[in-house]
Amino acid sequence: MTPDARPVQPAAEARLRVGVLGAGMIATIGYGYLPHLGKIRDRVEVTAIADRRLDLARAVAEAYQIDRAVDSLDDLLALDLGAVVNLLPGPAHFTASKRILEAGRHLITEKPITSTLAEADELLDLADRRGLYVVAAPADMLASDWARARDLVARGAIGKVAFARVQSSHAGAAGLSWPVDPSQFYQEGVGALLDLAVYGITQATGVLGPAKRVSAMSGITVPTRVARGGAFDGRTIPVTAPDNNLLLLDLGEATYAVIDGTFNVVASRSPHMEVFGLEGTLLVNRADVAAPPIELYRLDAAPGLAGWISPQTYEIFPVGSDRFAELQRGALVEHLADCIRDGVQPVASGRHARHVLEVMLAAQQSAREGRVIDVVSTF
Ligand SMILES: NC(=O)c1ccc[n+]([C@@H]2O[C@H](COP(=O)([O-])OP(=O)(O)OC[C@H]3O[C@@H](n4cnc5c(N)ncnc54)[C@H](O)[C@@H]3O)[C@@H](O)[C@H]2O)c1
Repeated sequence: MTPDARPVQPAAEARLRVGVLGAGMIATIGYGYLPHLGKIRDRVEVTAIADRRLDLARAVAEAYQIDRAVDSLDDLLALDLGAVVNLLPGPAHFTASKRILEAGRHLITEKPITSTLAEADELLDLADRRGLYVVAAPADMLASDWARARDLVARGAIGKVAFARVQSSHAGAAGLSWPVDPSQFYQEGVGALLDLAVYGITQATGVLGPAKRVSAMSGITVPTRVARGGAFDGRTIPVTAPDNNLLLLDLGEATYAVIDGTFNVVASRSPHMEVFGLEGTLLVNRADVAAPPIELYRLDAAPGLAGWISPQTYEIFPVGSDRFAELQRGALVEHLADCIRDGVQPVASGRHARHVLEVMLAAQQSAREGRVIDVVSTF
């Protein structure tokens, strides 16, 4: 073979150089980011971590073999990075995300994307103008169970959908032996709506499509909570943001979803989501209940028979292909690397996150004013 006849080797894919902003709980907890990013080190290199608590940044850098620890976003952005993962507390997301995009870096942001729609629009416009990606948590629609639920509904597996019930609550950080101070979750700017309902709204709209109208009731269940277990056991926490939210979404064509987003579910056995259609029922089950992840009741499950089935597919290698299960929040980072490589738009997109924010803000307004609020964005 002459040199010219040699097959052309594709250039080795460049690793995405990522900086992490915030070395707190979600950076390091088991279901968070850093414990999993080593599994994709052939695709992603975590180059640096920043936290205003430099001692914490250094400790996390040492634990995860990250080369650089710095104490500010400015110092992070001075490094050679392709993307930054914004893991600051919610109220700080916008300012940092804007600077990340202005510095020409792709953005992965924790939820909620911003505090206001104007801020979200500013970020998305900036990203569009600069040709940058915005990948946004929650990552649920990257999980195979949620994607399968969406596809089954879209393929008509339960016929026309009438309504869905979505469970998006837990006992709240004060009730869950939280390792860091749980107070922030009960205060204005966070609360059970922005902290928890965000998941159920992402799942409901991810499976059923964008919401068109929202009605909600919200309240403060009790004015103080007492931390139960964890590093702050016994601490009294003032509650200044609603911790009890029930939302009703109108998804169009008389399809509705009821979503709870509260810190008041100390235990439950109900599925994450139940979807009721004219030809059947679809369940997305909780991981801690002994049931298949997805169950389907079909009126015509077998000739002449109605019944429950556990959907199986003919996909090659479906087992082990669930990157969300393997990478947890790190799936968002792999997702960004995939989108850059393939030139496609993210599933966990800034536009979906912006729609979810619009629903949450509409729910706040509805609860305040006692009326139904229109939602105009789609994704
Ligand atoms: N903890 C969870 O279970 C969890 C789950 C899902 C999503 N999240 C999301 O992750 C984000 C972070 O949550 P967390 O629980 O890790 O919070 P955290 O308070 O544990 O960590 C935040 C870190 O950011 C640092 N920080 C704050 N402002 C800074 C600034 N301006 N510059 C540099 N560092 C700064 C703090 O020192 C702290 O270490 C939030 O948006 C939250 O909604 C958390």
